Amino acid sequence: MSVAVKFNDIRKDFGPVRVLHGVSFELAPGRIHGLLGENGAGKSTLMKILAGYENASAGEMLVDGVARRFDGSREAEAAGIVLIHQEFNLAEHLTIAQNIFLGHEKRKGWLVDDAAMRREARELLAQVGLARDPDVKVRDLIVAEKQLVEIAKALSRNARLLIMDEPTATLTLAETARLFALMTKLRASGTTLVYISHKLDEVESITDDVVVMRDGRFVAASATAALARQQMANLMVGRDVSDMFPEKGAAPELAPVALRVTHLSVPGWVEDVGFEV
Ligand SMILES: Nc1ncnc2c1ncn2[C@@H]1O[C@H](COP(=O)(O)OP(=O)(O)OP(=O)(O)O)[C@@H](O)[C@H]1O
Ligand SMILES: [Mg+2]
Repeated sequence: MSVAVKFNDIRKDFGPVRVLHGVSFELAPGRIHGLLGENGAGKSTLMKILAGYENASAGEMLVDGVARRFDGSREAEAAGIVLIHQEFNLAEHLTIAQNIFLGHEKRKGWLVDDAAMRREARELLAQVGLARDPDVKVRDLIVAEKQLVEIAKALSRNARLLIMDEPTATLTLAETARLFALMTKLRASGTTLVYISHKLDEVESITDDVVVMRDGRFVAASATAALARQQMANLMVGRDVSDMFPEKGAAPELAPVALRVTHLSVPGWVEDVGFEV
């Protein structure tokens, strides 16, 4: 029931500008994939193509072995693929339940079935671990809670591949830990997850596999455990970045001395001090 994805030579042009230059890699089902890359590497663009927000200019995308092209996020959702944006997609003035079922309202005959939506929202909130009433307005929630509403919404659409774009950017450590526990739970229930992040320590702790992109190109894919953090950083940047933090060498022995102070005492303040500048 998990979703597997294969990108084959995906290109994307925005007008005259090519931002994806033929990207190919696979996402194995039922795993947590970290998608790494510096700003502008093309991570969001590629995931928007997967989730139906953009179309590729060329190339092929296989979902569970079948070539797919989604015209709009609803088509991707129907295939079980949901993207949670960097900036959320919630209607602030509506309630949690209304947001979860926005555009997918439950009906009893002609009428919107508020009671059924509230009931189901409550179950979804329990699943994601958000202790809030479904009638609370989204504008009264903190960011971490809004994110859980987004995940509840994705689950209500039967997401089998959930893409999270920089989900921890504004979370506290405790909120991040809760999110990771939820991601692990979703993986156990068969969901494939894509986690976009710059935070290599988090990528190390939560992902099974990593894919690195740079300048609109695929750079590397690996089991997370097989890569050191330094290697991930090098792949992202495209060169050895360890020289950004050179080790402290010993002070040169023959450095010229501009000022030498010996046996300096200032009564009541310092006594017998010596130093060189
Ligand atoms: N709608 C658009 N029109 C024109 N250029 C775009 C558009 N969307 C993205 N780009 C460009 O495509 C490139 C890739 O952007 P993208 O947002 O996919 O990168 P990213 O890896 O998600 O970066 P970040 O880590 O900053 O979120 C960037 O150079 C960006 O300016
Ligand atoms: Mg992005």
